[in-house]
Amino acid sequence: MDYKYKIEQLRRQDLLRTVRDRGCPAGRVINIDGRDLLNFSSNDYLGLASSPALIGAAKQALMDYGHGAGASRLLSGGTTVHALLEEKTAAFKGAEKAIMFNSGYAANTGAIPALTDDNSAIFSDALNHASIVDGCRLSAAKRYIYRHNDLDHLESLMKNSPCAHKLVITESVFSMDGDVADIYNLNLLCNKYNAALYIDDAHATGVIGQGRGALAHFNVTPNDNIIQMGTYSKALGSIGGFVAGSEAVIDYLFNTARSLIYSTALPAAAAAASLAAIEYVEAHSELPAELPAELPAELPAELPDLIVKLHKTIDNCRRMLRSKGFTVTLDNTPIIPIVFDSTAETLHISGRLLEMGVYAPAIRPPTVKQPRIRISISAFHEDEDIEHLVNALSEAIR
Ligand SMILES: Cc1ncc(COP(=O)(O)O)c(C=O)c1O
Repeated sequence: MDYKYKIEQLRRQDLLRTVRDRGCPAGRVINIDGRDLLNFSSNDYLGLASSPALIGAAKQALMDYGHGAGASRLLSGGTTVHALLEEKTAAFKGAEKAIMFNSGYAANTGAIPALTDDNSAIFSDALNHASIVDGCRLSAAKRYIYRHNDLDHLESLMKNSPCAHKLVITESVFSMDGDVADIYNLNLLCNKYNAALYIDDAHATGVIGQGRGALAHFNVTPNDNIIQMGTYSKALGSIGGFVAGSEAVIDYLFNTARSLIYSTALPAAAAAASLAAIEYVEAHSELPAELPAELPAELPAELPDLIVKLHKTIDNCRRMLRSKGFTVTLDNTPIIPIVFDSTAETLHISGRLLEMGVYAPAIRPPTVKQPRIRISISAFHEDEDIEHLVNALSEAIR
């Protein structure tokens, strides 16, 4: 294959990707190529990634267990910290048991093929993440794609499927659109057709349901037919993925998930940092009800500080963008897409933002069909950051 030619083709189509590494911790301001930029590109929604709590926990585990795990989890790669994290994750998600993977990507590509066989049918939302798509590709199951969030379409596909074992897969908060799947009605539909529901809670964990994710947000009680996948790498500020579910599902995954069995375990330091992050969210999530859509100016003292700060900032940003004429949905999530007609235009806007000190890269095909600036809000943003972002965006599109 002529790779140089292929690269040139990508360049001509405005689809060539460049790596921009930072020379500082992840956070509100990042230094790229010697410039300090306001960071609107991070999934570190609570700003925990560089927090003393996570760094302290990781440091301690590094001293106690060393760095590299040395082997896969099923050999000698795991530690008591890994086991503790799985216990904590299960309790946090209201599940019987949990299993950790090296990443969210490894969780989806390991769990989906392991949980299905050639007698299964997978029903996957059209906008599901690439890791779900790849997990489905690795599965022997028959695959059906239903229109994004279209439960009528899903039902018509399920009704006509001859397969006895059915698995519905959806993200809860969609990674590129920031909208929320109707988990309440998806659960009812799955019950009706005796299907299992696999929820990718990557962008919901730490964000909605007082940080516990989609089931808590929709007030759905976990049961044996619900499998909750998630990642420690986004709002939890760490690294690694997980699946939480019934004891049988998790025990089966320990025996069959190839991305777990054939890959060296994460260092204990990573598990310790994830544990500290869940402890943070848990300590702040003994709340009576879901956060209201419009938060009151005076917040009740028992509300979790970073989660509340995040939601206030999201609310503020979405409202300011709307007031400047941008099309922004009512979803109360930190992912705000500003969609453009062409990749060239999106790249131009992203470049203009960079000139104005804002880092919000263009997201292009094949990641998404319609190119966009994906604004990502974090609890570390201040009101003046949001103001600067919205003014810069207005200026850039002129
Ligand atoms: C919906 C979704 N699932 C899974 C993943 C993979 O998670 P990780 O980054 O931990 O591999 C991502 C990451 O982008 C995601 O957005």
